[in-house]
Amino acid sequence: MKVVVAKSAGFCWGVKRAVNIATRVRGAEKGSVYCLGELIHNKREIERLKALGIEFVHDVSRLEPGSTVIIRSHGVPPSTMRFLRESGFKVVDATCPFVKDVHKKVVRLEEEGYPILILGNPNHPEVVGIAGHVAKPTIASSIDQVRLLPRFQRLGVVCQTTLNTDFFREALSILSLKSKELKVFNTICSATARRQKEAKELAKVADVMLIVGGRNSSNTSKLYQISKRVNERSYHVESAEEVDPAWFAEDDVVGITAGASTPEWVIDEIVRRVTLLSKGGTVSGGGVLQTAGRKLQAP
Ligand code: F3S
Repeated sequence: MKVVVAKSAGFCWGVKRAVNIATRVRGAEKGSVYCLGELIHNKREIERLKALGIEFVHDVSRLEPGSTVIIRSHGVPPSTMRFLRESGFKVVDATCPFVKDVHKKVVRLEEEGYPILILGNPNHPEVVGIAGHVAKPTIASSIDQVRLLPRFQRLGVVCQTTLNTDFFREALSILSLKSKELKVFNTICSATARRQKEAKELAKVADVMLIVGGRNSSNTSKLYQISKRVNERSYHVESAEEVDPAWFAEDDVVGITAGASTPEWVIDEIVRRVTLLSKGGTVSGGGVLQTAGRKLQAP
């Protein structure tokens, strides 16, 4: 078997930055350090951070008065930020600067008088944070919902940074016929677009695709859906134990990619597992390891 790892697999810049901030703050602070919500959508990395002493809470009433609170890369509505600051917490803002940029854009659109449409999942914390910056946004998470929207005189559009680019394109073609004046900010993060493009390309040439990341990670799930559409033998895995030898044949090319919230050490575990299977496990074969730009320790 040959293993090919996508160049963009794993942590994006914003997630890496948030994890580094959290780790640094935990090291520097003597008192309790909390993160509001999961810092990233990856159970295993969260366990690692918990072991360092960072506590994760969803409910602000569980925060110890005067403690340090980290805002994750997804960001929060301004009302949450205000509440934390006015309540005397030490707030460390790890919101990704690209998400902050969406906040600014949506506020500007509202000031210019555009009704706001956010394309994305209304339950995703990033979308909740964006929506909280304007008075009455509409949120659409599927093409059917976009089709059901009324006609608009004017409409301002932004989207979740991890939105599927095909969905964005299709939604805009519908919206352009529903609105006399359409102002759109393509706020899909280039890290997302790059991962999706590479996943599609790799899935076309690989025999088997492994998409590594949390099942609660929206960007990992999207990579899986993109891969599955072009390669039936695509599998979403969270850990090396989930990799089933029955998925592979001797001469397979195995493509591996991972969501923006998947740490490098989890990807390396999967690569090692597949390489071991190839070298002498259930699957026999050459075990040639080829990576597209990643440094790996020998298994
Ligand atoms: Fe930021 Fe883009 Fe990552 S918005 S958190 S760098 S996917």
